[in-house]
Amino acid sequence: MKPPEPARARPGETCTVTFDGRTLTVLPGRTVAAALWAAGVTAWRSTRGTGRPRGVFCGIGVCFDCLVTVNGRPNQRACLVPVRPGDVIRTQEGTGRDDD
Ligand code: FES
Repeated sequence: MKPPEPARARPGETCTVTFDGRTLTVLPGRTVAAALWAAGVTAWRSTRGTGRPRGVFCGIGVCFDCLVTVNGRPNQRACLVPVRPGDVIRTQEGTGRDDD
């Protein structure tokens, strides 16, 4: 049996964002989590209590493990938030707010 032909998808123009000051090139339509994974980043938050690293767990917006700071707004779920050109993405420490 012949394997199916690959789709002839042609991705649109890439954009750039920054992650902790590092410039990343991102394909259109990706979430923040997908963009970070594609750049080899698998953890972008530390827990409040013990400071353990966290990234994607469920990947569908349920567990809140993937919280990240995007454009100064903490607690954004990286697995749901689409990347926009010029986004400034930062690792989130604890609650991501100054009061913790
Ligand atoms: S990975 Fe579970 S909410 Fe994002």
